[in-house]
Amino acid sequence: MSSKKPSVKTGEKVLFGVVGVFILLAVIAYIILESVRLTSDTPMFENKTSFDFSEQGSIGSALFRESRCTSCHRALRNGTNMGLSLDGVGSERTYDWLYNFLKNPEQTYGASTLDHGAAPKEAAYVSRLPDDQLKAIAQFISELKAEQGSASAPVPPDGRSEFIDSMVKTWAPKEWKEKYSDVREKQPAQSE
Ligand code: HEC
Repeated sequence: MSSKKPSVKTGEKVLFGVVGVFILLAVIAYIILESVRLTSDTPMFENKTSFDFSEQGSIGSALFRESRCTSCHRALRNGTNMGLSLDGVGSERTYDWLYNFLKNPEQTYGASTLDHGAAPKEAAYVSRLPDDQLKAIAQFISELKAEQGSASAPVPPDGRSEFIDSMVKTWAPKEWKEKYSDVREKQPAQSE
C-alpha cells in the first residue's frame, strides 16, 4: 500500500492532455502571429488616430496631464481607460465647441453632465482653470484627429459592408427606418 506510487486516473490524463493541447496550440499560434508581425512590412493594425501639434497644442498637452484630466480621460496613450477617451475627438468637435465645453460644460453639452459642471461635481475645477490654460488645452484636444474607419471616428469605414447590412436588417426594428437616418448614406467627405 505505502509503496504504491500515486497513480493518475484516466480522467485526469484526458484532462491534462486536453489542457496540454490547448497550451501547445496557443504557443504555436503566438509564434506564427509574432513571426508574421515581425516580417511583414505593413503594420498589422493601421493606426487611424493621429495628432498634429501646434506650439499651443504641445503646451496644452502638458497641461492636460498636469491638470489631472488623465485621471478620467485618455489621450495619446496617457491617462485612464476608465473614463472617456478623447483620442479622435478633434474630428468630431471644433476648437470653439471644446473651449466652450471646458468653460461652460452643461450649457455646451445641452444635457446634464456627470463630472464637468458646477461644484460639487468632480471636474468642477476645470472651468475655473486660467483662461490661457483652457485655450491651450482646447487646442490640444482639437488636434486629436481620427481617420474615417477608426473606432473613435464620427464616420464609419468607407464602402458597404455586407456584414453591417445584414446586421442592420436583422436587428434594427422597422420604425427606426423612419425615425433615424443611416449615417452611411450621407457620408461627408472626411474633413481635416
Ligand atoms: C472626475 C472625472 C473627470 C475629470 C477630472 C475631467 N473630466 Fe472631462 N469628462 C468627464 C466626463 C464624465 C465627461 C462626459 C460629460 C460629463 O458627464 O461630465 C467628460 C467630458 C469631457 C469632454 C467632452 C467630450 C465630448 O466630446 O463629449 C472634454 C473635451 C473633456 N471632458 C475634457 C477634459 C479636460 C481637458 C479635463 C482636465 C482639465 C477633464 N476633462 C477632466 C470626466 C472628467
